[in-house]
Amino acid sequence: MEQRGHSLNLSFVIVMVVFVGFASTCQGGVTSRFQRKLEATKDMPLDSDVFSVPAGYNAPQQVHITQGDLNGNAVIVSWVTPKEPGSSTVLYGTSEDKLDKSAKGKYGQYKYYNYTSGFIHHATLRHLKYDTKYYYAVGIGQTVRKFWFKTPPQVGPDVPYTFGLIGDLGQSYDSNKTLSHYETNKDAGAVLFVGDLSYADNYPYHDNRRWDSWGRFVERSTAYQPWIWTVGNHELDFEPDIGETVPFKPFTNRYRTPYRASNSTAPFWYSIKRGPAYIIVLASYSAYGKYTPQYKWLEDEFPKVNRSETPWLIVMMHSPWYNSYNYHYMEGETMRVMFETWFVQYKVDMVFAGHVHAYERSHRISNVAYNIVNGKCIPVPNQDAPVYITIGDGGNLEGLASNMTEPQPSYSAFRESSFGHAILDIKNRTHAYYTWHRNQDGAKVMADSMWFTNRFWLPTDDSSNVV
Ligand SMILES: *[C@@H]1O[C@H](CO)[C@@H](O)[C@H](O)[C@H]1NC(C)=O
Ligand SMILES: *[C@@H]1O[C@H](CO)[C@@H](O)[C@H](O)[C@H]1NC(C)=O
Ligand SMILES: *[C@@H]1O[C@H](CO)[C@@H](O)[C@H](O)[C@H]1NC(C)=O
Ligand SMILES: *[C@@H]1O[C@H](CO)[C@@H](O)[C@H](O)[C@H]1NC(C)=O
Ligand SMILES: *[C@@H]1O[C@H](CO)[C@@H](O)[C@H](O)[C@H]1NC(C)=O
Ligand SMILES: *[C@@H]1O[C@H](CO)[C@@H](O)[C@H](O)[C@H]1NC(C)=O
Ligand SMILES: [Fe+2]
Repeated sequence: MEQRGHSLNLSFVIVMVVFVGFASTCQGGVTSRFQRKLEATKDMPLDSDVFSVPAGYNAPQQVHITQGDLNGNAVIVSWVTPKEPGSSTVLYGTSEDKLDKSAKGKYGQYKYYNYTSGFIHHATLRHLKYDTKYYYAVGIGQTVRKFWFKTPPQVGPDVPYTFGLIGDLGQSYDSNKTLSHYETNKDAGAVLFVGDLSYADNYPYHDNRRWDSWGRFVERSTAYQPWIWTVGNHELDFEPDIGETVPFKPFTNRYRTPYRASNSTAPFWYSIKRGPAYIIVLASYSAYGKYTPQYKWLEDEFPKVNRSETPWLIVMMHSPWYNSYNYHYMEGETMRVMFETWFVQYKVDMVFAGHVHAYERSHRISNVAYNIVNGKCIPVPNQDAPVYITIGDGGNLEGLASNMTEPQPSYSAFRESSFGHAILDIKNRTHAYYTWHRNQDGAKVMADSMWFTNRFWLPTDDSSNVV
């Protein structure tokens, strides 16, 4: 990969932006040669401000929420108490000084090699009103901490909703920039997180204190808006050498997903509806071959999607199917072979994946014609197919993926090796505006965007690929 100097080449960036503006007229895709950051990506030390332990005896920490049911009128609140269990009850209400409702949760603890977790609480708040701000308190009876969240509007085609998109975040200085840039968007109501949370497994013996520090780091967002979790390879924590043979142990103890509401049998694949979107979360590291639970679940799931109710069909997974970087190359291929036909048949709008620590967006393409003997194994333009977006660029300690396959495959519309995050702003049943924002030193710079038009409601409009 061509390396550019440290100095910011402004005219280059301007030329780039103009070029991207005309990308739709070009056959090949755009490889952005912008590369800002050449220094190593380092984790923030444990005594950093973002990891500080909240004051007060046994104060709840690592507070995070996620959607708690199919339609978005339940919320799961999770937190950790370090010294003793304390109360598992959440007090909540619609007025800050009148938390007149309560939900009693449960707590647990787990061991990993020589690490023992704090007391991990999960409580589900049900029958919430849509489109309403709720205040809540945890740590009842000891150190009480208060937060708030907003419920989404009732599921329906014409409710605007804005999602954030973050992947492979980790806890480096770059991770902190990504999160800070995301936080400047005041409209986004939930994060679609495409997997690889803490990267604790990069430490000796998977030092699970780095799961705790990650929980404290992201609390400033996760306590106030739901993060919709996808599991990545860094959630596996499978290490037989040190006796850890149960995959996903730290993740499943610390994070909850509402998988039962969509009749899934495991927390790693599930679906939710939120406002105008139907979101299917898939598990790259659980079996998905024919007859497996995930396969059977997904086969039943697609026919349930009613585009009159939820016009936008989004799929999240960790390992991308279409990835033209020389990292994790073709790791997503086996799942693509199993599921891509359904994605085309059911006109999935967009597929978000992580895993590769860079950014890439595809044209609408499919590769479903191959049948072992016909030789048709090249992706082709297909207006029924989704746009595939790799957004594993949160900024973890492993650094950027910068080595790309050359030439850029024709299916790849735009790729750039930078850290960043994206915003999906669903305007109504026909239009959604998508933007990708790179971290450019301290600044957030919009470097890729596209209008999505909805093929269910605008079946003859093929402007979907226009950048
Ligand atoms: C766990 O084991 C490692 C390696 O022996 C050691 O460095 C670390 O201090 C131990 N941690 C605890 C909490 O005992
Ligand atoms: C992380 O970002 C926040 C908000 O921008 C800032 O206040 C904090 O000092 C940063 N911490 C580190 C260790 O970079
Ligand atoms: C889950 O399965 C039950 C029993 O078959 C069914 O009544 C229900 O509608 C299903 N829920 C969803 C969201 O598919
Ligand atoms: C699909 O959703 C629309 C709008 O909510 C509703 O009127 C219709 O009955 C639903 N169709 C099915 C098959 O459930
Ligand atoms: C990029 O990846 C290719 C394929 O793995 C490899 O042959 C090549 O040496 C790599 N280039 C650099 C600069 O690392
Ligand atoms: C949907 O949103 C797009 C983009 O903001 C706008 O141009 C269009 O008029 C909207 N459609 C309706 C029916 O409001
Ligand atoms: Fe990964």
